[in-house]
Amino acid sequence: MTKTSGSLLGILLLSLTVSFAATAAEPVTPKLTEKLDRLLREEMRSIQTAMGQIHSAIVMGQHAKVAKQAQDIHDSFILQQSLTEQDRKDLMSAVPEGFIQLDKEFHQLAASLAEAGRNDDTAKQHQLFGKMTGNCIQCHSTYVSDRFPGVKPVRD
Ligand code: HEC
Repeated sequence: MTKTSGSLLGILLLSLTVSFAATAAEPVTPKLTEKLDRLLREEMRSIQTAMGQIHSAIVMGQHAKVAKQAQDIHDSFILQQSLTEQDRKDLMSAVPEGFIQLDKEFHQLAASLAEAGRNDDTAKQHQLFGKMTGNCIQCHSTYVSDRFPGVKPVRD
């Protein structure tokens, strides 16, 4: 009895440690080169602006504008564009796989949102906008905790 509960506790503690590690990864920002830091900030600011415009466009039913702005976010994909071979190597050594995955997922959501814009689908736009906001929070709370210590992890 004692033995069994002991090992169960061990498993529980182990899984707690693992999930804690997954939410409290080391910040990536100190590891970025100056150039990557600049590119990423630029990209983030333009994403921020686009998200604000998309929000207004969704609530006013301006579907073409939703499609255009979401497509622009998708196309801004820093990990696929405007990086030299060296930048790419620098990026890969600065950020973990989970960061790359989140960025990919985020840009795929932007593509789906552009599609929902083209389909005049307000409900879908609303849903995808929320998912994208969830991605901002997830990435910032996991990988940018040094700059944004106030962002709490969210489970959806
Ligand atoms: C895959 C990770 C990731 C996702 C997803 C992400 N961000 Fe960021 N964001 C970062 C990183 C890293 C920084 C810090 C960049 C730096 O300091 O070099 C940052 C910084 C920012 C900044 C500050 C820019 C500045 O001028 O310093 C804003 C604003 C921002 N993000 C907005 C957003 C919004 C809005 C979303 C979602 C719609 C989002 N981010 C999604 C990683 C992400």
